[in-house]
Amino acid sequence: MEIIILPSAQEACIYAARAVAGLITRKPTAVLGLATGSTPLPFYHELVRQHREEGLDLGQVTTFNLDEYVGLAPEHPASYHHFMRENFFSKVNIPASQTNVPDGLGTDIPATCQAYEADIAGAGGIDVQILGIGGDGHIGFNEPSSSLASRTRIKTLTQRTREDNAPFFSNPQEVPHHVITMGVGTIMETRHVILLAFGEKKAQAVAESVEGPITAMVPASVLQLHRQATILLDEGSASKLKRAEYYRWVFENKPAWQRV
Ligand code: F6R
Repeated sequence: MEIIILPSAQEACIYAARAVAGLITRKPTAVLGLATGSTPLPFYHELVRQHREEGLDLGQVTTFNLDEYVGLAPEHPASYHHFMRENFFSKVNIPASQTNVPDGLGTDIPATCQAYEADIAGAGGIDVQILGIGGDGHIGFNEPSSSLASRTRIKTLTQRTREDNAPFFSNPQEVPHHVITMGVGTIMETRHVILLAFGEKKAQAVAESVEGPITAMVPASVLQLHRQATILLDEGSASKLKRAEYYRWVFENKPAWQRV
């Protein structure tokens, strides 16, 4: 794991966007795994800026989002289809046919999930996966106790996650109980993971994921077994790490050829 602590969420998101833009420049057909929520917003803003101001071409990129609420139509303002359209897809040049978000309205959910897995495999797998983290250590919507080998499937949100996500809905009662999410096993197969976590409210989950034991009770802790996981933090989310000084030292002394 590479743990990078930067002064602010903004700087961390710019770092992540530069890493992803570098990948797209090297491999224009890159397959991106994308996350929603408040955490990655500055990441999307920076990619949009690079597209508009620096000519970053996303025309051959394919994307797969982590998750979607069951029962929400793509037009619903709190759906992840809507989030992605508003914050990213409508502002860059990825053809709509190359963007994938799980279908929350599918009548045969197991078949929908299986098809999503097949589509990821058909695209050649995900080159880089952007992740946020829940206060309980979830990645995607793999809540504590999720199988660490799980694939795309339906999950039931914890009450805490429903409350955390309530601000995106006009009425907290409206937050669906069910979601479709890539599994932990699906995420582990991606070639590079960039996890973004900001603010003190994520500090405990980050400390348990990075320095605690690997356990299904903290799904993000399995990233310790990922072949290339970059954990991008700000001072708040890093505040409970015991070895923060060591991670800073490693980053400061990173060889020039390894830098983004
Ligand atoms: C979103 C997702 C979730 C969020 C997590 C953090 O697609 O998969 O795991 O990343 O719930 O959400 P925020 O960023 O709103 O704190």
